[in-house]
Amino acid sequence: MNGLSAKAKEEDRQLHERLISIRRDLHQHPELAFQETRTAKRICRELDRLGIPYQSGVAETGIVADIPGRGDDSKKIALRADIDALPIHEETELPFSSQNDGVMHACGHDGHTTMVLGAAELLARDDDLPAPVRLLFQPAEERGAGAKAMIAAGALENVSMIFGGHVDRHYPTGTIVTHAGAVNASTDMFRIEIRGKGGHAARPHESIDSVVVGSLLVMALQTIVSREVNPAHPSVITVGRFDAGTASNVIAGRAELEGTIRTQENSVRDHVIASLRRICESVGLLHNAEISMSVREGVPPVINPPAMADIARRAASNVVGPDYAVPLHTANMGGEDFSYYLESIRGCYVRFGAREEGREGYPAHSSQFDFDENVLPIGANYFYRVARIAGAILQEE
Ligand code: NI
Repeated sequence: MNGLSAKAKEEDRQLHERLISIRRDLHQHPELAFQETRTAKRICRELDRLGIPYQSGVAETGIVADIPGRGDDSKKIALRADIDALPIHEETELPFSSQNDGVMHACGHDGHTTMVLGAAELLARDDDLPAPVRLLFQPAEERGAGAKAMIAAGALENVSMIFGGHVDRHYPTGTIVTHAGAVNASTDMFRIEIRGKGGHAARPHESIDSVVVGSLLVMALQTIVSREVNPAHPSVITVGRFDAGTASNVIAGRAELEGTIRTQENSVRDHVIASLRRICESVGLLHNAEISMSVREGVPPVINPPAMADIARRAASNVVGPDYAVPLHTANMGGEDFSYYLESIRGCYVRFGAREEGREGYPAHSSQFDFDENVLPIGANYFYRVARIAGAILQEE
């Protein structure tokens, strides 16, 4: 082993240790959407240490940092981390468990923030970057609101491509999922109100029973996915709440239903919402009930353009080897507000395998969720590599 590689090895070891200590500090002090003030301070402290200029208070608690590079300053590569936690009481019994009761980093955003800070260190050390790099530390991903707020605050100005990622226990540590096409679903919510006519349970002919109308509606809605949508396009309609009635001997005059729609393509999303409206109208007509429906728009699906997934695959191959840069092994119907960035500019969203060998563990959003910390340097190196590779491509365009 020559002297240089020994030095590089020592630097790697120190970086890994530093990443673990940052991650544990963030994990111990989780904060909810748009309240990430301590988290933001911790990020700023790290950027100060690295001598990277930044603007804090972007979209309330977000941070935008800029690292210079060779190319055109109006053609930057962005790396994005989400920084917020969830309203969950932590039950991991880790020595660095949450000190904020009822708040927990149960989705690994502590890891994402740490990875981008690790990339910041690698980028700051590199005095020959092909393109300038912007770091986005985004609040409120869990509310689906942070990305929109960052864009409104101008975080994408002079940015040409953006890259992000998520830790994922479905894949072993040492793999990176670089998938072309849909990698997250849209997440619209719907609310349906049925107004029938209440009455005596013994005299149905004097009433319009909203429980019967609602039941029919729930079953009819399930035929949209099973009979109308191409089975090759994953989609879900779930009625999560059905509220009606007050007593066993009273026919309910009113019912309320709430649910979620998950799709991976905008054409399917539009079709499902239109069918929902049509079925509500028809069932109302069928039973003389008044049915109204409203949709609260959630995040759009995350769709990686093939050319961007290719850049991600090259970066991932550099870090974990080509055999471990893998496609999604099953459709992912969760939501992610990274989709708003991809509506504005090109980019790619990856998943970092974060399951320790021989341990099943608990899924994201569980009160016992944890991930393999060995993923931290992998993520940091991936973000560094992808900024270099995408930057070089950008300058050639
Ligand atoms: Ni998440």
